[in-house]
Amino acid sequence: MEIIAKAEHLSHVYPGGIKALSDVSLTLYRQDITAVIGQNGSGKTTLSKHFNGLLKATEGNVLVKDQNVSKKKVSEMAKDVGYVFQNPSYQLFCSNVRDEIKFGLKNLKLNKKDTVLKTNEVMKRFHLTRYAKNQPMTLGSGMKKIVALAGVYAMNPSLLILDEPTTGQDQPGKSSLGELMREMSMQGKSILVISHDMNFVSEYAKRVIVMANGKIIKTGTPDQIFTDERIMNKAHIQPPQVYAIANYLRKNGMIIQNSEINADHLAQLISERSVAVDGCYDTLQTGKLVFSQM
Ligand SMILES: Nc1ncnc2c1ncn2[C@@H]1O[C@H](COP(=O)(O)OP(=O)(O)O)[C@@H](O)[C@H]1O
Ligand SMILES: [Mg+2]
Repeated sequence: MEIIAKAEHLSHVYPGGIKALSDVSLTLYRQDITAVIGQNGSGKTTLSKHFNGLLKATEGNVLVKDQNVSKKKVSEMAKDVGYVFQNPSYQLFCSNVRDEIKFGLKNLKLNKKDTVLKTNEVMKRFHLTRYAKNQPMTLGSGMKKIVALAGVYAMNPSLLILDEPTTGQDQPGKSSLGELMREMSMQGKSILVISHDMNFVSEYAKRVIVMANGKIIKTGTPDQIFTDERIMNKAHIQPPQVYAIANYLRKNGMIIQNSEINADHLAQLISERSVAVDGCYDTLQTGKLVFSQM
């Protein structure tokens, strides 16, 4: 797999002395969707900001496409690395949504006609056409994130970083965000997504990085991560419910392959075994497991 970006023995100490990252190494690949999870304050945002040069390494190196980020300006990095902030208000500054998208397109150096075409295309892609004249700052927080994302998408970056993109999104919003990540990964981009939404992570991430106290404590597939209770506890993370059930059943002697961890299969297993496990479920409704005691 082609490497897009790398952190090597990266540490970061904020002015004032807080050590937010210590000795973090990781590699981001083309076409990968990598999620970063971990408690508040574990260092996720600090880590991600090193990839577009917003923060500089105190120790160690950060490379994007084999170039050392610390030697480049943030504006130069924007061509390769798109960053959508946890709080999008920090990155929206145009007087209307259309201009916000158009601004992103500057990088591509298109002529006037193509700029108009591409702006319209991106606005359509993100269902923003009817908001074209709205002032971005007056939109709700979920919509602001979509506008910020559309502006960054327009720049066509090789690495897209999304810091908590699902906050403020309803279920259809989350799904379309996930589909967008998949689409961009198929186009050869690399996606780094920070999220507290474990269902979202388990559905869309190909690889998951778990952080605690400024360190990476495990990297693996969603199955490998969410079935590792020691790591979940250490990072204070609740796995998606379906993994919590599978972990519980395994502990009580049921043999379940990782590939079998889905609600339908677990419901079937439990009903076939006619309640082998005490207090494990309440009801089976339309194939969905309703779980109460654990
Ligand atoms: N600008 C800052 N100045 C000083 N300390 C900071 C700053 N930003 C974050 N921190 C501290 O660095 C640590 C990691 O924070 P952060 O990267 O924001 O974590 P996360 O994104 O996982 O919630 C926390 O202890 C936080 O308080
Ligand atoms: Mg954060």
